[in-house]
Amino acid sequence: MNKAESTDTTRHFDVDAVRRDFPILQEQVNGHPLVYLDNAATTQKPQAVIDAISHYYLHDNSNVHRGAHALADRATRKFEGARDTVATFLNAPAREQILWTRGTTEGINLVAQSWGRSQLQPGDRVLVSAMEHHSNIVPWQMVAQDTGARVEAIPVDATGTLDLVALQALLAEGHVRMVSVGHVSNALGTVNPVREIVELAKAAGALTLIDGAQAVSHWPVDVQALDCDFYAFSAHKLFGPTGIGVLYGKREWLEAMPPYQGGGEMIEAVSFQGTTYGALPYKFEAGTPDIAGAIGLAAAIDYLNGLDRDAAMAHEKALLAYAEEKAKASEGITLVGTAAERVSVLSFLVEGTHPNDLGFLLDQQGIAVRTGHHCAQPIMAQYGIPGTVRASISFYNTFEEVDRLFEALEKARQFFG
Ligand code: ALA
Repeated sequence: MNKAESTDTTRHFDVDAVRRDFPILQEQVNGHPLVYLDNAATTQKPQAVIDAISHYYLHDNSNVHRGAHALADRATRKFEGARDTVATFLNAPAREQILWTRGTTEGINLVAQSWGRSQLQPGDRVLVSAMEHHSNIVPWQMVAQDTGARVEAIPVDATGTLDLVALQALLAEGHVRMVSVGHVSNALGTVNPVREIVELAKAAGALTLIDGAQAVSHWPVDVQALDCDFYAFSAHKLFGPTGIGVLYGKREWLEAMPPYQGGGEMIEAVSFQGTTYGALPYKFEAGTPDIAGAIGLAAAIDYLNGLDRDAAMAHEKALLAYAEEKAKASEGITLVGTAAERVSVLSFLVEGTHPNDLGFLLDQQGIAVRTGHHCAQPIMAQYGIPGTVRASISFYNTFEEVDRLFEALEKARQFFG
C-alpha cells in the first residue's frame, strides 16, 4: 500500500482535527516537533479529559458517599455516573460489576489475592501465555507460592502467535483453575483469540481473566460477548488519567470473593465483635477512591464515543501497514512479532545497534518510542534478545510521523556505521 492508498482507506478520518484535541502533540522536543510513538506505554489526553479533571477540582471537589452537602452530592453523582459510563462502555450486565482499581496491575492482583488465595489448592494450575506482561505473571506466582498452585506458560511461536493446540493439551492435563491472558501483547502487538481461549478454558472448568490494557484503546470491548470471568484495563492507556483502572467481574465470583483490602467505604457494620462487608462494588473499594480519575476516565470514554472508531481503527491499520512496508524496505531492520492479528505496534531490532542506544538517538530527534524488554522478559528470553525498539501507534499519529521515524532510524544506522 502506498501513502495515497492508505490515506484513501481512511478518508473519513480527519487526523488533523483529532490532533487539535490533544494539546501535547504540539510540543517541541529537543528542538523538533514531538513524534509520539509510545502509545502502548501511555496514551496522550484530549483537552476534554484535562478539562473534566480540572472542572472537578475547580468546582466539585469533595469526598464521595459521605458528606451531607452539595459538593459531596455533586462529586458522588459524577463519580458513580463514571461507573455507569464504564459499564456501558464494556457492555457489563450491571454497574456493580465495575470495580475501580489503580490500573490493570491492581485488577489482576485483586483477583489473584482474593479469588486465588481463597480458591487455589496445592496442585492447581494457573495458565498464562509466554508473552504476558510481568503484571500478569508475578501476581499469580506470588499467590501460587503461598497456596501450592503452579503457574505455567502457554507456548508462543516465533511470530508471537499463541499456540491454541498447546493450550488445549495443557487444559486436558487437568487441574487448570484459571487461564489469564492478555487481549493484546504489549511487547509484540499480537491480538489473542480471547473468545476462543475463553471457550476452551470454560469447557475445561477454568475461569478466565483477560488483561485488556493494550486492547481498549483500539476497539470497543464487549465483556458479555467475550464471556470472560474478569476483564481488567487502565484508564491511562485509554486517553484517560493515570492512577485509575477498572476490573470487571462476573457477579457470581465477585459476590463469593472476600475483600482483600479493609478500611472505610467497604464495610456494612464494624464492631470489635466482628465486621460485615458492604455490597458490590464497595466491598472491593476500601478508602477514598480516585474520584477525579474516574471522572477523567468517563470523559475519555465520552470523547472516544464521539469519534468514528471504525475509521480511527482503519487509520491505525493503514499506519501500521505503511510502517511495516518501510521497515521491510529498510536495511538491517528485523521485525519482532509478526503474528497475523496485530494492533498498531511495531517492535523491531536494527542490526548492529542496541535498542536503548537507538531510543536515545530517536529522542534526540524528537521521537518518543519505548526500548527494552517491555516488562515481558520471558518472551524476550525465548527470542534470545535483550529487548526491542517499540513504536506504538495511535489514531492521532500520521504518515508523516512514520516517515520521520524511518528517516531518524536511517540517520542512527549511519551514525552507528
Ligand atoms: N505496560 C506499558 C508498556 O507496555 C507500560 O509500555
